[in-house]
Order: sequence, then structure tokens, then C-alpha cells
Amino acid sequence: MSQVSDRPSMIDLFAGCGGMTVGFHNEGFRPILAVEWDRAAASTYAANFGKEHTHCRDIETFEDDEIPPADVIIGGPPCQGFSNLGSKSVDDPRNKLWKQYLRFVTIARPQVFVIENVERFSRTSEFQLLLEEAEHGILKDYDLTHKVLLAADYGVPQRRPRTIVIGSRVGEIPLPEPTHAKVPTAKRKPWRTVRDAIGWVDWYPTTTELPEKHTTYFEQSIRGEFRGTEIHFGRQPTPMSLERYDHVPPGGGRFDLPDHLLSRCWREKKTGTTDVMGRMRWDAPSLTIRTEFFKPEKGQYLHPQWELDRPDRRVNRVITHYEASLLQDFPKDYQWCGSKTEIAKQIGNAVPSGLAAAIAKHIKGRLS
Ligand SMILES: C[S@@+](CC[C@H](N)C(=O)[O-])C[C@H]1O[C@@H](n2cnc3c(N)ncnc32)[C@H](O)[C@@H]1O
Repeated sequence: MSQVSDRPSMIDLFAGCGGMTVGFHNEGFRPILAVEWDRAAASTYAANFGKEHTHCRDIETFEDDEIPPADVIIGGPPCQGFSNLGSKSVDDPRNKLWKQYLRFVTIARPQVFVIENVERFSRTSEFQLLLEEAEHGILKDYDLTHKVLLAADYGVPQRRPRTIVIGSRVGEIPLPEPTHAKVPTAKRKPWRTVRDAIGWVDWYPTTTELPEKHTTYFEQSIRGEFRGTEIHFGRQPTPMSLERYDHVPPGGGRFDLPDHLLSRCWREKKTGTTDVMGRMRWDAPSLTIRTEFFKPEKGQYLHPQWELDRPDRRVNRVITHYEASLLQDFPKDYQWCGSKTEIAKQIGNAVPSGLAAAIAKHIKGRLS
């Protein structure tokens, strides 16, 4: 482990607003470098973990001698999602971000690296590239393990499936065992629910706007920093939207709407997209929180409070940014920078901290 501290050092690549770092930091890891080119996301990261080690720039602009040694590298390049039939060559221009990732691993020589990616990652050519590099290429010293993990199984109040890859040159590391389950056992606690995460948050936000506040990061002005309660703002739905929300019970969605409230595309598409215009359930984890969680027509994002015989006990709105951040397992006192849309993107793109912490805890004891 690095000499200056007994806390293992880590580099976060494609760090976003720092969801993954939250989990590793909570388990005693020490961030020494974060790379993120989106200025709003990098500002949020810097607001919470310090600007000294946060680099708001394209990963490609890093010179080799700027890359420090580290015990662990976390974060993976966003997947372009091109099919298995695509080129597996590191030199394919579409693989340029993976090439950067491999360069950081080669120079920083971490004992372990952790990649988080979409559920179907193991079916992409980016994944094949990793396997080939581990077989006889740049990663030949590393053993790879991978699995799709469900965030809810690790204490996150959300059913978010993600592929996790662990690369280790200190012996193969299997993926951590679930700590939570839908049906609890002696070893597994019950899934955390929407009620656990947001049950205490005010049902009626008092504003529809972010406060007029600006701060400076990376030598430019940016909106923020905002506390959690400052991103608890409502929206101004049309009367038609309100009428739609009113018809949707917990667990329901677009199929609960009467014909006159259906949009043309919903009327024509009789099957699939079952989550859209969906309402959460209080006593279950939410479904995946994506970057457009503020649009009910994009998923199951309506607030869970709804009573059949009591229209006065219905909360007819989509979840707020604050509620989404809590379902994504961010701390209540996390600081946020950027516009409404930029903050939503940061939240939806993040790795829930509970999942990251479970992985961090699991690998920490194996570092030398
Ligand atoms: C899925 S998000 C990361 C989420 C993050 N791990 C978290 O837990 O909050 C991927 C990030 O990669 C960043 N990114 C994409 N291309 C980049 C590049 N060339 N250089 C630096 N960052 C880049 C995007 O701006 C985005 O924030």
C-alpha cells in the first residue's frame, strides 16, 4: 500500500459527480486523482472531495508523467454500445477511451481496478477487448472477474442492475456476495425501500427553481453549490399531465390511463415500455433512476404517495432531484453544482454509493 498513508490510494477515471468515490471514500480509500471532462459534474466532485486532485479535462490530454501510482483505479469508460461484431482492436478509433483506461492501468499499476458499466456490457466488443488484454496483452498480470450485480442486493433502495468487473494482480477477487435480499434470510437483510430513502422528505416542495447562487470551479462561474434541500424543487405540469398522474396507482403506469389520456404513441404501442408514467411503491426499491427521472413519461418516477379512496392523500408529482439523489444513495448533505438538467444527468449516471462501498469493503482486505 502507498507509503504516505495506511489508507489505500485511488484514482477515479470518468468520475462524474463522484458516486463511486463516495462509496470508496466511506470505506477508507483516499482519492488522489479524479478525471472528468464535464464541468458541472467535475465541480460537484470537487465541491465534495476537494479541487486539488480533480481534473476537469479530457482524459486524452493527460501526459504519462502526470499519472501517479495508485493502489486502486475505479470507474470505466462510458460504453459506446457497439455490437460484438465491431473491431476488437485497441487501435480502433471507437476504442479510444478504453485505450486511455488501459494506459492509466499500465502507468499507475494499481493492485486492483474496478469497472462499472451497463448490464449488457459483457456482450460488447469493449468487454472482449478487456478479456483479450488480460489473456496476453497489457493486462496479462491481472485476473478478471465479472458479474451483473443488482444494487438492491447491496443495501441500495433501487433495482439497478450493473456489470462490475474486478481486475486484480494480487490474486483473483470474486464479486462480493449480496448483503440484502427481496426475501431476507439469516445472512441477508431485507431490501431497502423507497420509504426508507425518501419517506421523511417533504411531500410538497415550496419552489420550482434552483436558488440564484453561483460559485467558481476551474476558473469559471457555475451554479451552486446547492444543498440537498435546495434541489428539492417541484415542476409545473400541465393540467393534462396532472390528470394522467391521478390515474396511476403505486406500481401502475401508462396502462392505467383511460383512452382519452393516452398519447398517440402509447395508443399505437400496446405492449412494452411498461415502466413509463409509472408510480413507485413505498415498500419496494425503486426501478433504475436514469438521467431523465424528472420526466414521468420516461419511467417509473411518480412519487409513491397515492390512496385509492383519498384523492387528497395523493402526491401528484414526479420525484424531485433531491429524492432521486437519495434513491441513488447519495448522502443527505451532498453538494451539487450545475443547472437542473446537468444535476439530473450527474445523479442518473452515478454508481449508487452503497454498491460501490460493498465492492470497496470487499477488495480492501485483499490489498497488500
Ligand atoms: C457513467 S458516468 C460516471 C459516473 C461516476 N462513476 C459516478 O459514480 O458518479 C461517465 C462519465 O465519463 C465522462 N467522460 C466521457 N468521456 C470523457 C473523456 N474523454 N474525458 C473525461 N471524462 C469523460 C462523462 O462526462 C461522464 O460523466
